[in-house]
Amino acid sequence: MNVATEKVSSELLELVPEEKLALDRILAENRDRPGATMVVLTLTQEQVGYVSPAAQRYISQELDVPLSHIYGVLTFYSFFRTSPIGRHKVSICMGTACYVRGGPTLVEKYQQVLGVKLDETTEDNRFTLEVCRCVGACSQAPVVMIDDDIIGRVPLQDVAKTLRGYE
Ligand code: FES
Repeated sequence: MNVATEKVSSELLELVPEEKLALDRILAENRDRPGATMVVLTLTQEQVGYVSPAAQRYISQELDVPLSHIYGVLTFYSFFRTSPIGRHKVSICMGTACYVRGGPTLVEKYQQVLGVKLDETTEDNRFTLEVCRCVGACSQAPVVMIDDDIIGRVPLQDVAKTLRGYE
């Protein structure tokens, strides 16, 4: 492991103060309940907005459950996030109409333009990229939603343009 990797790894495993406060409160109130792991993870998601790698490790230690179990729960249920959500959500429709009219290619292009993979947030915290189901605008396929705005028939060359104005 090189120095840069070590630095990133240790930052990922450090709780920010507000996160620790919230986790300590959630753990104090729920650690003895049946199914405490699921309760604590759900409340962390609700109150913090995501369950960071540092929070996963902390919860694992505090509840004395293996980290692999925590990870298994987080990956099984799609409502859990492990990174913060950006200020704007970019959702690419992967319903049938959008899928056959270029949804997957659009996903690739947005990933390339934003420099993130699906379910990740850009470094500046501006955008989170995800896919969604049919949003009811099939005649305009392929469709992208940015926050509540529906943008239809997005040509690949205009992907960067669709992101303008969302600061
Ligand atoms: S399938 Fe994409 S809007 Fe319906």
